[in-house]
Amino acid sequence: MSKPIYIMEEKLSVAPMMDWTNPHFRHLLRLVSTKTVLYTEMAVDNTVIYNTDGFLEERIGLVDPDGPAVIQLGGSDPDSLARASEILNDYGILSNHYQELNLNCGCPSNKVTQRGCFGAKLMLQPGLVRQIVHSMKRKVSCPVTVKCRLGVTNHRDTYAELVEFISEAHLGGANKFIIHCRDCVLEGLSTKQNREIPPLRYEELGRLRQDFPDLTFVLNGGVQSLDAALQHINPDSSLENDNGNSECLNTPHGVMMGRAVMHDPLLLATADTRVFGCRRDQGLSRRELLVRYGEYCDRMEGQMADIIEKKERVFHRSTTAIWNAYRRNLLGGVANIFTGIRGNKEYVKHVHPTDSDIARYFTDDYKLGEHIGGSKQMLSQYLDECTRFFSDESLDKPTAIHSDETLPSDRR
Ligand SMILES: Cc1cc2nc3c(=O)[nH]c(=O)nc-3n(C[C@H](O)[C@H](O)[C@H](O)COP(=O)(O)O)c2cc1C
Repeated sequence: MSKPIYIMEEKLSVAPMMDWTNPHFRHLLRLVSTKTVLYTEMAVDNTVIYNTDGFLEERIGLVDPDGPAVIQLGGSDPDSLARASEILNDYGILSNHYQELNLNCGCPSNKVTQRGCFGAKLMLQPGLVRQIVHSMKRKVSCPVTVKCRLGVTNHRDTYAELVEFISEAHLGGANKFIIHCRDCVLEGLSTKQNREIPPLRYEELGRLRQDFPDLTFVLNGGVQSLDAALQHINPDSSLENDNGNSECLNTPHGVMMGRAVMHDPLLLATADTRVFGCRRDQGLSRRELLVRYGEYCDRMEGQMADIIEKKERVFHRSTTAIWNAYRRNLLGGVANIFTGIRGNKEYVKHVHPTDSDIARYFTDDYKLGEHIGGSKQMLSQYLDECTRFFSDESLDKPTAIHSDETLPSDRR
């Protein structure tokens, strides 16, 4: 008999966000919350299959430290998506570092949708989604979940069509759905507008909860704070069901947050206690976060030396250009940890260095992962210099009591 596959609890997660939820930003988020589920950026099936530029190693494989995480795949061909899933499975990446695979059926990006039936366009073909999920599931030993919209305006935008989509994906083997609770507009709106303009309709997720009591639904879209997330998961006691159970039949099983966390990662600082019921939060001050993140950057710089050689061969770009982009990516991980604090403007400039800044401060001379740059800096030193922009009070204030008035007194 095959082993039962359990769906991971996902009371709170951080959304897949292209160019944001890379391994570096996820590393930072892990320093802030140990329990929040983290999604990778979307990985396109062929990028995983051909892995020409060290994508697997750079974007997916570097996972440190562990914690609940999900890989999101994009594509539209059942065979390619199955192959990509198999590769992730065979590498041991899925079993060691990620608990679920997610299929992107919600992305409205023209770049994505013009490449065929991809992202949100998949919502137009529920039968194809059933096939895709089925073929992915056959290759992996973890759950395959689906992230989608409520519908596609002017194409398939009724509740009955949403029900059909969920039913088909479920027939393919998906038991968990992350729903960005607005429609997608394929014509005339940019990707960015598509995250704002069609109105949110959280109530439809409540209907789905009632119509599919055995499936798991995670609410996404427009959640701005931990308080708001908690309000969705544990609404007012007036909404409790007859048993006094605060998990109501029309509340989501969890909440996924995207932009709010991107703009202020420390919003998750009290998630472990308040959402997951842990006894304590990580509680690192911003100074400690800079130190721990700086140590991570130094390790990554060393490890990246090999991948950079591969990229140089594939893309015919200069080593310096590749290093610069990589360092910017690393520094970008901590770009928003001082949001709203005096000194932030200078800090943001510092962590977005120009090419000449990079040339002045850093070296490209890495041999066998060892820094041999003479007087040049390690990224940890560069980050340490940022402390000059802030008062000791801002740097050392414990983040776990940051905007945390509602924490019960026994948890403080
Ligand atoms: C910069 C950015 C990149 C995104 N990339 C992806 C992606 O790769 N895959 C995906 O399913 N959604 C992507 N999204 C959509 C988010 O996952 C999320 O559904 C959306 O932002 C709504 O949640 P929010 O209101 O909490 O931000 C992206 C959003 C942003 C802002």
